[in-house]
Amino acid sequence: MTPALYELPKAELHLHIEGTLEPEMVFALAERNGIELPFESVDDWKGRLQFASLQPFLDLYFASSIVLRQEQDFYDLAAAYLTKAHGQGVRHVEMFFDPQAHTQRGVALDDVITGLKRAMDDAHAELGITGGLILCFLRDLPVESAFATLDAVSPRALAGDIIGVGLDSTEVGYPPEIFTEVYARARGLGLHCVAHAGEEGGPEFVEGSLDALKCERIDHGIRSLQNPALVERLRESQVPLTVCPLSTVALRGVSTLAEHPLPRMLEAGLLVTLNSDDPSYFGGYIGDNYIAVQETFGFTDAAMAALAMNSIAASFAPAARKAELRAAVAAWVAAR
Ligand code: ADE
Ligand code: ZN
Repeated sequence: MTPALYELPKAELHLHIEGTLEPEMVFALAERNGIELPFESVDDWKGRLQFASLQPFLDLYFASSIVLRQEQDFYDLAAAYLTKAHGQGVRHVEMFFDPQAHTQRGVALDDVITGLKRAMDDAHAELGITGGLILCFLRDLPVESAFATLDAVSPRALAGDIIGVGLDSTEVGYPPEIFTEVYARARGLGLHCVAHAGEEGGPEFVEGSLDALKCERIDHGIRSLQNPALVERLRESQVPLTVCPLSTVALRGVSTLAEHPLPRMLEAGLLVTLNSDDPSYFGGYIGDNYIAVQETFGFTDAAMAALAMNSIAASFAPAARKAELRAAVAAWVAAR
């Protein structure tokens, strides 16, 4: 039987499409593209899913991403994710992708975007999923590379093929202020601005993302709790935090889910959403995150629906679409 929380309509706002690369697809695409992998088998790959921190995860994530070469690869990856996500209640998705990870291997930027966008368009037509693409800059690459990437995508940004920019990869050592001018240019193109902050870095990364980058949402942000003044600012402004519970456990941000600060964040009045981050690596897609949270914290169905409502409020969907999605969540509650 389908779990009820898979049927709860929701928006996914923190999802790296490269992090949905399942090991079977890693090997299938390696064969399609004649790429030699540094792993022997699916089981060998799965055996590496133990991470002491963010960096060892990123090493496996980028090593696996080398199989993505052609437009069709990006299409197949996103189509597989969208089908699976739909089965777990995703009705709107704002999908991260890491173009520099691909262009530095010689993949054409247009192939990446066209493949992902084609899958999003098909998912809209066939499954009714709405959303858009958010281009993430790799913060550990030189800022000049971020500028060059942004300039290269500007025609597609102006055409609406990309809805925003984000900032990901290694956090500590790469403060948000490095990207102040890049984000100003992105805003000039009409793009939404989000950034990973407070995942491994401290609350000052969250403050810098708000002040220097003018972010509308913060990805993770859990270390904001270390600074009461920042918590008050986030409560008052209702800037959303896209929290990823299974990810934070897998990357040892907390030792067990029971220790995750989610309940404290909600009690503090923060606008928190649940997301999957890199589901192939962290043991579950978004519905699995909802289930783990309910089981661990004993939240009621109404509390879980409130989290889904948060995901809709925090999304960049137009008002009419938000109203439709809210009605769908209300219908789920009414049927419980
Ligand atoms: N890239 C993919 N997943 C990430 C995460 N959780 N943090 C930083 N960069 C990432
Ligand atoms: Zn992330």
